[in-house]
Amino acid sequence: MSNSYLQTKTNVAIGLLGPKLDRGDGPLRWEHWRPTVSLFQHENLLWDRLELIHEGKFSKLARRVADDIQMVSPETEVVLLQLDFRDAWNFEEVFSKLDELARSMELDPEEEDYWVHISTGSHVQQICLFLLTESGRFPGGLVQTSPEKRPNSSSPGSYQLIDLDLSKYDKIADRFLQDQQEAVDFLKSGIATRNPEFNALIDQLERVAIHSKAPILLMGPTGAGKSHLARKIFELKKSRRQISGPFVEVNCATLRGESSMSAMFGHVRGAFTGAAQSRQGYLRSANGGALFLDEIGELGLDEQAMLLRAIEEKRFFPVGADKEVESDFQLIAGTNRDLKQEILTGRFREDLFTRIHLWTFHLPGLRQRPEDIEPNLDYELESYSRSSGMHVQFNKEARDIFLRLSMSPDALWTGNFRDLNAAVYRMATLSGGKRITPQLVQDEWKRLQYGWIGANQGSDSFPTTPTAKLDIQNLPDDFWESLDLFDRPQLETVLQVCMESRGLSEAGRRLYQHSRLKKKSSNDTDRLRKYLKKFGFVWKQGKGLVYQSKSSPK
Ligand SMILES: Nc1ncnc2c1ncn2[C@@H]1O[C@H](COP(=O)(O)OP(=O)(O)O)[C@@H](O)[C@H]1O
Ligand SMILES: [Mg+2]
Repeated sequence: MSNSYLQTKTNVAIGLLGPKLDRGDGPLRWEHWRPTVSLFQHENLLWDRLELIHEGKFSKLARRVADDIQMVSPETEVVLLQLDFRDAWNFEEVFSKLDELARSMELDPEEEDYWVHISTGSHVQQICLFLLTESGRFPGGLVQTSPEKRPNSSSPGSYQLIDLDLSKYDKIADRFLQDQQEAVDFLKSGIATRNPEFNALIDQLERVAIHSKAPILLMGPTGAGKSHLARKIFELKKSRRQISGPFVEVNCATLRGESSMSAMFGHVRGAFTGAAQSRQGYLRSANGGALFLDEIGELGLDEQAMLLRAIEEKRFFPVGADKEVESDFQLIAGTNRDLKQEILTGRFREDLFTRIHLWTFHLPGLRQRPEDIEPNLDYELESYSRSSGMHVQFNKEARDIFLRLSMSPDALWTGNFRDLNAAVYRMATLSGGKRITPQLVQDEWKRLQYGWIGANQGSDSFPTTPTAKLDIQNLPDDFWESLDLFDRPQLETVLQVCMESRGLSEAGRRLYQHSRLKKKSSNDTDRLRKYLKKFGFVWKQGKGLVYQSKSSPK
């Protein structure tokens, strides 16, 4: 806050007369510090106007102070504003009268700078002035005056201009930045991840988690860390005192049939045969806390409709109840399905999707984050060592082999972090608490690969991601709409695999893995090339996948 800033607009001080400190009649009044007058005795502080608030019973003193200000600062216009308090120490009265006064003053922050003086009046009055300035009722900053250390000095003392926009203060801004960094580290469990997309996602998620109460949707393949992150979001919010209630986790895939309504929304006693006791239901249990609906795509349509209403109105009817109950919670939803696809097939309600899609985060799988395998590996080793009490490490060669294999195209990581977690656990256990050797790594690699062959790649490792994420050269906007629903998911998966591969032969190997093992397919690359061509796509050297024509042979 430089003084030159003070001089660009009309500069207005607003203050209360201090019946004690501002008092003084004879010539001796210049010998002691008077806060209101002192404000006008600083050579580098120029005021165009003072709005001096005072009680009627002190109007004589107010006029005296105004005259003295005219003497020391002739260019300042002093406006006397009378405001009477029955009890100047009554918070409610002082606040509402000052508030009313502020509303009645014609303040124009475009044209004028306002500084509210807070050295005079009772504590209550100063607190009220602060609150009214902080809330913008007085649209400006604070000016605080203080006397010289030596009492009875005629010096004007010092002043400080306080801007209530805290982000302007370096020290405070640093502190905010530090808080933010701590929160980001917390969400990442302290793992120094290197993947830029993932790091950007967490940075954004931190801001959303701290500043928003709206639903959060976590999408991504199984084992990508959705459940883990959901709990972290909850803990972060709790540590920042945004929520105080519990974390209620529901796997919607386990809710089946008639009982799912009452599991979610509760029921009253006697609601149906067998309902001998009432049941609270998950939504009610989460009141004041967070509700994590994992696999939300598995929720039935009736439950989806009820849920939508419950999040919009924060109230709902338990099964068999004639009175609504209230529940307010942070909703976090997780899914490895493409909900947009589910809408098309009528399995997910569009209105619910719109409501929960405000903050959607796509967690990438491990294959999309090869650079994060190493830091996660160290994290898993440390967790194992901590929980087992044995300090397990790789020997150098074994570590190199594991990392190389982990990042090779053959590493499918269909279970993502769950696979990595299990691999480390098995190798560490088999090492007998000593060093993990190259042999142990080779054996583990075989186990991992065996698991990947059996895995259902179509839905897990390559979920039908939203088409918007498939950034293919020349692809017309209406491309997907022009396709039969029948072809969409398969083509999306194929394109996704192609884009994640280094060439058509790698993509072919992955896409036709099973048939190749059964020796049913002779040339994967050729088969893939033909499939792509049917939809107008070609693989160009150096460019990757390109859309070429719509005139595809049927
Ligand atoms: N950021 C993380 N830090 C540490 N462990 C993680 C992290 N994300 C996931 N994990 C671990 O990976 C495994 C799978 O994570 P999970 O959250 O269950 O995945 P999802 O819910 O997406 O299927 C769990 O063992 C979990 O502890
Ligand atoms: Mg999960």
